[in-house]
Amino acid sequence: MEPLVGNVNIDLWNEDRPIPRDELLSRLSDKDALICLLNEKMDKEAIDSGSDLKVIANYAVGYDNIDVDHATEKGIVVLNTPGVLTNATADLAFSLLLAAARRIGESERYVREGKFKTWGPKLMLGKDVWGSTLGVIGAGKIGSAVLRRGKGFGMKLLYHSRSRNMELEDEIGAEYVSMEELLKRSDFVSLNCPLTAETKHLIGRAELKMMKNDAILINTARGPVVDEKELFNALSNGDILSAGLDVFEEEPDIYQPLMDLDNVVMVPHIGSSTTVTRTRMALMVTEGVLKVLEGNIPGNIVNPDVIERR
Ligand code: DGY
Repeated sequence: MEPLVGNVNIDLWNEDRPIPRDELLSRLSDKDALICLLNEKMDKEAIDSGSDLKVIANYAVGYDNIDVDHATEKGIVVLNTPGVLTNATADLAFSLLLAAARRIGESERYVREGKFKTWGPKLMLGKDVWGSTLGVIGAGKIGSAVLRRGKGFGMKLLYHSRSRNMELEDEIGAEYVSMEELLKRSDFVSLNCPLTAETKHLIGRAELKMMKNDAILINTARGPVVDEKELFNALSNGDILSAGLDVFEEEPDIYQPLMDLDNVVMVPHIGSSTTVTRTRMALMVTEGVLKVLEGNIPGNIVNPDVIERR
């Protein structure tokens, strides 16, 4: 808040739950700028309710909650938080990978429930990470950072992306493959692509069937990239070994049957949640909003085309 205080009038939603839709729409009517979370669906109706809006700053790098084309048509600048959360999110993806491979959630529950009575040769047998194959879907900033972590764990690195990332190939020897090849060859599949019309349910029944029976799926991208019902089927039928999920199709609701499975590690969308990262994100959106209101264009603009329309 500090960069804003004294520079602009602030209308703050300060409750620990998303702002109700009608409240958002009515309070937007006289605002020049909005700083929102990924919970806020900024579709046509919401954007149109802010007749004075000049800038929408999303406190997240992903902006699938915003109709960017409509904002652009209306001359509204859209900002996000690229770069500052790359390493925190990659760390979380790798935490989930390790936790799923070594059954950390399950083991922790076992200890807390007083079940640890003796060391046993077969107690909580997991899956080797070192030397296995990591496939990353979406080799942007976060996907590349996940691959770099994989290199440190002696993993063979595969990736699939909209375009080849030659720098990454040269730097860490990652191999560009088709989606199908990646799914068939990987021991760990990490999803790091944005949510778009093309990536909704990118991982469904057919894709899960292509994966190895002892493969692990990690999702720190967006929930709807995976068909959660099909994931449940694959996890319970043994089509894949386990999953690590930071994101869900209908957050904060979780497809209930997943809750009963031991072979899934779930955390509440905390990819970027470190003190330093969240502070950097806050500074990026607040400073960005002030720049736009002063008539300048910050670096974290999602829709540079808007400049021609202003
Ligand atoms: C993002 O930034 O898109 C994350 O999902 C939330 O930090």
